[in-house]
Amino acid sequence: MSDIANVELPKHQTGLSVGIIMDGNGRWAASRGLPRFEGHRRGVEALRAAVRAAPDLGVRYLTLYSFSLENWSRPKREVLDLMGLLKRFIRNDLAELHKSNVQIKVIGEPDGLSADILALLAEAQDLTRNNSRLTLVIAFNYGSRQEIVGAVQAIARRALAGEIDPKAIDVDMISRALQTATVPDPDFIIRTSGEQRLSNFLLWQAAYAEFIFLPIHWPDFDQAAFTAAISEFNRRDRRFGGLVRAVEPDLSAKTAS
Ligand code: IPE
Ligand code: IPE
Ligand code: MG
Repeated sequence: MSDIANVELPKHQTGLSVGIIMDGNGRWAASRGLPRFEGHRRGVEALRAAVRAAPDLGVRYLTLYSFSLENWSRPKREVLDLMGLLKRFIRNDLAELHKSNVQIKVIGEPDGLSADILALLAEAQDLTRNNSRLTLVIAFNYGSRQEIVGAVQAIARRALAGEIDPKAIDVDMISRALQTATVPDPDFIIRTSGEQRLSNFLLWQAAYAEFIFLPIHWPDFDQAAFTAAISEFNRRDRRFGGLVRAVEPDLSAKTAS
């Protein structure tokens, strides 16, 4: 990968956790006079390229927002298309992802997903559970507020059962009750399409994330765009509430080898 060899990747940034809000497929297609489905199809190609490029850019965890709980409000045809594309992606790419030492983890609500999708997602997670080069977190049928509600319910049940004292509830306990318990908080969140919002993505986890909002649509997000975004991240001054640049972000303590 010669064209990314020149990117500045300081040692302490080899274990990055990156979230991507893959937005703009529909507008990409519309601007070319194509049906929205074509944008989504090309979006899967961009996703594939991003997963391939991630490890060489120092990314250890890549969380991709693929379908939100709010996306059910789209026309039924489009929802079916998006479900179909996920199935196709897992069926076509699972073997290669496994060979590339990628671990797949799914976050989101199982409710509302068809049995065949749930079976494919379970198969993908089972097969790849011991892989360690990159963890690909697929946020599918995901909503951050709903995830937080689930965590609060689980903690409340434990309190009611007398297992924990409400006074013992702290930031760590809540983090561990989320579906992202084993995924470090994102260092960096990228959103394509020019929209500047989170749309219910990783609200709790993004407390100290850096953000970049790119003016390109998701199907145009290629290796060069990913590389440029990571370079921009590497120029950011992360202070975590302090006064000087943090040399070792929390994350690297947990993940760097
Ligand atoms: C992102 O592209 C894909 C999903 C949200 C599933 P969009 O479908 O949101 O495309 P735009 O934002 O309408 O252009
Ligand atoms: C966010 O994009 C969800 C995904 C990328 C899966 P949307 O297109 O659904 O978000 P809004 O509606 O513009 O906020
Ligand atoms: Mg959109």
